[in-house]
This record gives sequence, C-alpha cells and structure tokens, in this order.
Amino acid sequence: MENVVMFDHPLIQHKISRLRDKNTGTNEFRKLIEEIAMLMGYEALRDLPLKDVEIETPLETCMTPMISGRKLAVVPILRAGLGMVNGILALTPTAKVGHIGLYRDEVTHEPHEYYCKLPDPIDERTIIVTDPMLATGGSAVSAVDFIKDHGGRKIKFMSIIAAPEGLERLHKAHPDIQIYVGHLDRCLNENAYICPGLGDAGDRIFGTK
Ligand code: PRP
Ligand code: URA
Repeated sequence: MENVVMFDHPLIQHKISRLRDKNTGTNEFRKLIEEIAMLMGYEALRDLPLKDVEIETPLETCMTPMISGRKLAVVPILRAGLGMVNGILALTPTAKVGHIGLYRDEVTHEPHEYYCKLPDPIDERTIIVTDPMLATGGSAVSAVDFIKDHGGRKIKFMSIIAAPEGLERLHKAHPDIQIYVGHLDRCLNENAYICPGLGDAGDRIFGTK
C-alpha cells in the first residue's frame, strides 16, 4: 500500500510482544508505548528538512546540516495517544503538542469528539497524529478529518497495532497521509477489539478498569 510504512525492526516487534502480554503491568506498559513511539518516530521523521549551517569545530569552520524550521506538531488522540507523545518529544523536544479527544461509543463503535486544541499555525506544520490502536479506523479518520478542516495539510498517522479493516478505512479516506504501523494484526472481534491485540490501550496505560 502506498504511503503505508510497516515496521519489521526486531526491537519494535519485541516490545510489541511485551505489550500484548496481559501480565505486563501499567508501569512497564507505559514505558514500552513511549519507547516504541520513539523508535517509530525516528523513521517517521526521516524527511525532516535540513539546512547547512556554519559551525566552528576545534579544528576548522565547516558547513554542516542541521534541522531547519521548527514547525512540528504532535497530536495525540485522547486518551491512549497521549502515551506516545513523550517518545516523540524525546527526538524533537521543541515540537508543539495539540490534543484531540475522541471516545468510541461502546455500542456503535463510532467516535465522538469531546475536545480539540491544535497549535497555530497548523497549516504550516508537519503533524504527527498518535494513537496506539487503529481498530475500525473511525477515530483515526475523524481525527484527520478534523485536522484537515482546521487547515492541517502535512499529516502523518502513527499507530502501534492496526487491524486490516482500520488501516484500509484510513488509507481510503485519506490516501494523501503517511501511515506508520508497528504491527498489522489479524482482525477485529465482535466488539471491534483488535485480535490478538493488547486489550484496551487507554485502560492499560492509565491503569483504569
Ligand atoms: C481507543 C483507541 C483509539 C480507538 C480505536 O480509544 O485508543 O482511539 O479506540 O478504535 P477505532 O479505530 O475503532 O476508532 P477509546 O475510544 O477506547 O478511548 P480511550 O483512549 O479514551 O480509552
Ligand atoms: N481500542 C483499544 O484500545 N483496543 C482495541 O483493540 C480496539 C480499540
């Protein structure tokens, strides 16, 4: 699929397996989500623009590349996407952070928005939307719709585990955005949970339920 990056790096796969384990507790789960986000972010930021600047080394002056511009925004989908933010900020500490609050209706599984705050000027930023779970794709599609309605143009979506249904729905609705997936799982169950998945990501990150 064009514009979709799947990760086969052993470190990412190992950490995802630790996430799946129902015996992995909240503390380790949080750390793993953050570490995976950082590893995925390393790849997702591969196209950051560079500009040659003059630097004086102890030996001589040289022109050497540095990241140009600081127009990056990380936009987690609440709640679970929050767990990925610090992993990306570890790479790009000056990025701005927006928030989109969505929850899935337990019966229809459709997303409902309850909060949104995006950094200005959103149209000039590269935007990384984070959510560890891409299940039916409803939340991801709504979040990207929303960001585009507010003027966002260069959007990347990062999820740790995706179901084939959700990936297809997001790609179909927004073929222009780059999608990063840590692992593509088998399917959704009757409650629209990803199988084998890792359960409810928000509950496992925040220790609720
Ligand atoms: C989860 C998850 C995604 C969404 C994915 O959030 O973090 O946002 O479900 O499902 P979808 O692809 O079918 O839309 P949830 O609604 O459980 O909210 P929470 O993060 O606040 O727990
Ligand atoms: N949201 C989750 O947290 N887990 C799933 O498997 C599906 C949606």
